[in-house]
Amino acid sequence: MSDRVDRRGFLGTVAAGSAVLAAGAGGASAQSGWWGQTPAAPGEHVLPELSFPTDGLVLKASGYQGISQQTVEWHHGRHHAGYVNALNSIEKTVAGMDDPAGAASASTYGDLKRRETFNASGMILHNLYWAQLTPGGASYSSDSALVRKIEADFGSVDRWRNEFVTAGRTASIGWVVLCLSPADRRLHNYVCSLHELGAVWGAVPLLALDVWEHAYYHDYGPDRAAYINNWQQLINWPAVQESFLTAARSV
Ligand SMILES: [Fe+2]
Repeated sequence: MSDRVDRRGFLGTVAAGSAVLAAGAGGASAQSGWWGQTPAAPGEHVLPELSFPTDGLVLKASGYQGISQQTVEWHHGRHHAGYVNALNSIEKTVAGMDDPAGAASASTYGDLKRRETFNASGMILHNLYWAQLTPGGASYSSDSALVRKIEADFGSVDRWRNEFVTAGRTASIGWVVLCLSPADRRLHNYVCSLHELGAVWGAVPLLALDVWEHAYYHDYGPDRAAYINNWQQLINWPAVQESFLTAARSV
């Protein structure tokens, strides 16, 4: 199959999925703009507010533990906020240097730039992490463009989930991120250590699973598998589908 035909077919699938979403999302709050606000000047990134109360991810009625209010408060208010604040500080420091070559030693400047990518990636992935979760979760449509793309690229949703969850269970500290890559216009489950090590240029994140211990240890101790299982019950799939449709239009 030629690239031209393949791309047309792919976009046709996306267009069909858009109609499905428009007709069948049921008013679910698919979130856009999770990347965050575009600052007018360096150092003006803003911590996005949660779209749910901090006790909203406790799955009280289902028997699943979910994510506790304490974990949400620490994770969003301390860790996520810390990445935003650190990034703002770094950007202001760098922008405020009249002459970077003369204002800082090579090691100091290098450390600033290394911490810049760490904190920027931490901010972006946490923006996505919270935007894709909703109290009680919201299911996907089996006829959606995203599901059809998952089936095309992984064989089935179950196969994709098997790979995604296994990657989360076996990763070191970091993330598992479902991405759409412009390199082959396929979905991938990428694993990145910390926030930035292992990211693939151009690949657009659609669904991000945080496996840093701060995401689950207070609630689950070392049982990361239980956290991952319960985290899946909180995914706002219409929001993930919207991210996919947005990404598909750009790659
Ligand atoms: Fe985190």
